[in-house]
Amino acid sequence: MARAEIASEPSNSAAMSETTTTPEARVTMEEITALAKRRGFIFQSSEIYGGIGGFFDYGPLGAVLKRNVKDAWWREIVELRDDVVAFDSSIIMHPNTWVASGHVAAFHDKLVDCRNCKHRFRADHLKSLEKCPDCGMTGSLTEPRNFNLMMKTAIGPMEDSASQAYLRPETAQGMFVNFKNIYQSARKRPPFGIAQIGKSFRNEITPGNFTFRVREFEQAELEYFVPDDGNDMRAYEEWVTARKHWYSDYGVRPDRLRFYELTPAERPHYARAGTDVEYLFPWGWGELESIAHRGTYDLDAHMKLSGKDLMFFDEASKTKYTPILIESSAGIDRTTLTMLIDAYENETIAAEDGKTSQRVVLRFHPKIAPVQVAVFPLARNKSDLVERAQSIEKALRPQFRTQYDEGNVGQLYRRQDEIGTPFCIMIDYQSLGDNAVTVRNRDSMKQDRVAQDQLAAYLNERLGS
Ligand code: GAP
Repeated sequence: MARAEIASEPSNSAAMSETTTTPEARVTMEEITALAKRRGFIFQSSEIYGGIGGFFDYGPLGAVLKRNVKDAWWREIVELRDDVVAFDSSIIMHPNTWVASGHVAAFHDKLVDCRNCKHRFRADHLKSLEKCPDCGMTGSLTEPRNFNLMMKTAIGPMEDSASQAYLRPETAQGMFVNFKNIYQSARKRPPFGIAQIGKSFRNEITPGNFTFRVREFEQAELEYFVPDDGNDMRAYEEWVTARKHWYSDYGVRPDRLRFYELTPAERPHYARAGTDVEYLFPWGWGELESIAHRGTYDLDAHMKLSGKDLMFFDEASKTKYTPILIESSAGIDRTTLTMLIDAYENETIAAEDGKTSQRVVLRFHPKIAPVQVAVFPLARNKSDLVERAQSIEKALRPQFRTQYDEGNVGQLYRRQDEIGTPFCIMIDYQSLGDNAVTVRNRDSMKQDRVAQDQLAAYLNERLGS
């Protein structure tokens, strides 16, 4: 949600009101978490010590999947535009940053404790404050009190109030406090944007739904500054459209994605417009991104507390003004989870003899798939087949994300389907004579015979450069 008075989400978003709907069960979270662990996408953090709530690790395939999501965002938002510059700010900032932003005063959830079982709940998640939902005791819940969601840390050897700092709860503030450094050094004038991808931390009271609500996560944020010349709403709408294209370009199913426009009551008083991008997860709609027209609120707040001038000085007209901000803030972990869930399909396949079998397939977009091309020999005990397969895999490696594997061919296909590899190449005895290989398409399961020297062109055409 857009930071409506900086309460943590989703207390007033459409996402919250609809989490109780029951979408058609295409995949369960149990199936997703089991696949994520089995195939090395996502593991519970510190699992051998019993895990730690709200923290996850990305395995060999998950790390690549998440990187591909970030690269896809970065390419579109930064590299393919000439009006957005890159940025990377520190996680720990001057504590006054969070005073100016409003996080110290208002980034909290209301909590209640049970005096009997000592369990803690978000007040807005309880139907009634009369009875503890865990131990069932009546009258045991405390009055709701504020709990700040920022993670605290101490700088230096002394742990006193002077050393207290916070792990950033969003990356955005680094871009606001550096606004002047950035526009002057990059020689940019509004309209222009600043983008960064980085870790954020929130001490969520109820982390859950796998990597959806976690305490350490990555955000991809764009802060787009526009002049106050009457075109600000147009810029906002252009960003909403650009973000719609991004999700559809990377194959997210349109019937499971919606752009929910916040009502005036749901947005902060200073915001002229806001849209939440939501995905229909197995448990209901959940927010992936918030897009907001934030007026001059953020720069004004930092100017007021720091006493420093963050206005834009237009050399040409010798005038000064505070630009209007359009923000797009996406969660990388949530988007990565979306890609995993959205790609998942449990399919019944009918063989020519009429027998049916099941396969799990991840239909990742080729740019998002952690492995794009898998290469294997028909038999692992035939050295000439193995050598040919390995040399083909090595030759394709500079252009595609490849993997060499060997074993039972049927099982290899199933494994590659389950990790979402768009193409598998199989080297058989005939390949040694005619220098052609079998290429199997993940989605259609159709096979083509392709000359070895045409492989790169064949794959390029289908995977995109
Ligand atoms: N700078 C604006 C901002 O931070 P937000 O709506 O609080 O806005 C933006 O967060 C995005 O960050 C959310 O849409 C979500 O994708 C991601 N996000 C927020 N809290 C999260 C959490 N606890 N776990 C995972 N992702 C989270």
